[in-house]
Amino acid sequence: MSFPRKKLVAGNFKMNMTSSEVAPYLEVFRQETEKLNDVDIVLIPPFTAIAKASEILGGAQKIRLGAQNMSPEAKGAYTGEISAPMLRDLFVRYVLVGHSERRRLFGETDELVRRKLVTALASELRPILCVGETLEERQAGQEKAILEGQLRGALEGLTPDQISEVIVAYEPVWAIGTGLTATPEQAQEAHLFIRDYLGKLAGTSLANKARILYGGSVTPANAKELMSQPDIDGALVGGASLDPRGFAEIVAAATPEE
Ligand code: 13P
Repeated sequence: MSFPRKKLVAGNFKMNMTSSEVAPYLEVFRQETEKLNDVDIVLIPPFTAIAKASEILGGAQKIRLGAQNMSPEAKGAYTGEISAPMLRDLFVRYVLVGHSERRRLFGETDELVRRKLVTALASELRPILCVGETLEERQAGQEKAILEGQLRGALEGLTPDQISEVIVAYEPVWAIGTGLTATPEQAQEAHLFIRDYLGKLAGTSLANKARILYGGSVTPANAKELMSQPDIDGALVGGASLDPRGFAEIVAAATPEE
């Protein structure tokens, strides 16, 4: 099988893992992924564990770091916020933008998501833009309208070059942390829709290069089938990324077959 787009597997630890827990995690995870090639690996610990992870990983090319959130502002009187330069200083390369938990639990609007995205791009942090519909929206047949609205809200007006830097993660809200996974067919349909929409904004050739990740109850058992769909270019893994061996199995499922 050929993989025209290099796969990317990211582990979003959410509000789990202390700074002292990250060292034993990395020891196992590095060992388990040592022989895996041709796949991009991104670990997204909480802010407080990033410095430790960065120190342990050093300049290692193989495992990159991401942040779960970021302020749209560069510095100043924004108590409790973390800026792009602070993340860059710790060698963070990626940042999640618009995760459904931030939209739903912390009131992030499309406008705020867009501001964060623009800041990330200006700061050479690669944004992973999360989009996805709720169960009610899917049951009402509105999933494509929701995806289009979220993509438009975040991306319209950006240049094709800027859009080409964005990684999109399709995370149906009903599949997050529920053990319910979108079927490979449902996920593929959504991913193709997202790619077509990116094509409208930035042109087909850029859209064909864009990486679109699937997230929502990805496990070692279902990862391979999901990621063998033509428009699924990797996974954004929550709960299953907390076990370094299981997560390494998901990464292995994304590597090209000999
Ligand atoms: P789960 O893998 O725990 O369903 O979480 C998915 C997610 O939200 C990753 O960002």
